Amino acid sequence: MTHHQATHREVRLASHPGPIFLPENLEIVEMALPSPGPGELLLRNRWFRVSISTRLMASPDAQAVEGIPIPTLKPGDTLADGAIGEVVSCPPDSPFHPGDFVLHPLGWRDYAVVSAGSCTALPPRRMDPAALLGHGWTAYAALTRGVEVRPGDTVFVSSGAGAIGSMAGQIGRKLGASKVIGSTSTQDKAAWMKAELGYDAVVLRGQGPIASQLSQVAPDGIDVFVDMVGGEQLEAAFARARDGARFVLLGALTAELNDSHSSIVAPAKIDSFQMILKDIRMRGYSADRDGAAAFDDWITWLWERGSNLHFASTVFKGIENAPKALHEACSGKLKGVVLVEL
Ligand SMILES: NC(=O)c1ccc[n+]([C@@H]2O[C@H](COP(=O)([O-])OP(=O)(O)OC[C@H]3O[C@@H](n4cnc5c(N)ncnc54)[C@H](OP(=O)(O)O)[C@@H]3O)[C@@H](O)[C@H]2O)c1
Repeated sequence: MTHHQATHREVRLASHPGPIFLPENLEIVEMALPSPGPGELLLRNRWFRVSISTRLMASPDAQAVEGIPIPTLKPGDTLADGAIGEVVSCPPDSPFHPGDFVLHPLGWRDYAVVSAGSCTALPPRRMDPAALLGHGWTAYAALTRGVEVRPGDTVFVSSGAGAIGSMAGQIGRKLGASKVIGSTSTQDKAAWMKAELGYDAVVLRGQGPIASQLSQVAPDGIDVFVDMVGGEQLEAAFARARDGARFVLLGALTAELNDSHSSIVAPAKIDSFQMILKDIRMRGYSADRDGAAAFDDWITWLWERGSNLHFASTVFKGIENAPKALHEACSGKLKGVVLVEL
């Protein structure tokens, strides 16, 4: 597509998803190229992120959730998510220039019109799009602002192959953890996590109680838990917590990707007496609340300490494959952050 053409494509919700998010729940619409107003940039999108939270936000009873930057969706709405776009045109008084690459919130479309204030300039040095659009920054913020990792810690990361988890395991190690354990669903993913992401051990959901699997791989217990899942995995981690253990809860996939209904209710049963006796600290954390400052910290750390990190991603080429990307992401088939390259 060139900058001179009059139409572009965007992806809209066609219908609310049922228990499985199907590609047919989305439609690709061709429409007139949007034109920027005062203070706005016209961007040609090059990559955008596909997040599983879209399923929650597309459910019929969805409500905006503070900390989830994805908007609620009803049929006819255009999807949105983090994107890297190339500046086509910009206001003369803005700090941007045609040809610059910026980070912005309007993916799921070929071209986007975005206010200058919603665009973050990207460093001229070319970086892996997965480092910028992925959740390394979320994992880094969780492990530095949400919880303290100390040298020698045993760290457990639930959904350890996912967008946040694939980075949290590696960052935890660089911050001093001596043992890093992850959870996933298949032996294939487990082997990949050990080979590419440096996990020492992996427990498998759906293949026997997590608590007993965790006892086997961490006989002395765990010090830090980075939780994306909730439910059984949170209960198991709690049961295996050592004195002074620190838990940071980032997500509840057990509710979000529940087989029957995506929801924001994720109950778990923990023994509060043990929490007192063992001085266990547990907190919820949303990196979006720390926003730009947390992202800047991540970029700085990346320059200084980020060599050898593996930015795990699954990349789909072409906007026409974006509905399939979301379907497969929600089905648990993919690894790392899911991106569409345009
Ligand atoms: N607090 C924050 O700042 C923040 C920021 C962004 C996202 N989040 C939240 O953090 C969580 C993880 O986000 P993410 O983007 O990194 O997602 P993700 O871990 O990449 O999620 C997809 C993976 O979830 C696993 N999964 C699927 N169904 C599941 C189920 N029923 N129970 C448990 N796991 C299941 C599958 O992995 P396996 O097959 O490997 O098990 C699947 O590949 C989400 O709840 C998200 O909303 C939090």
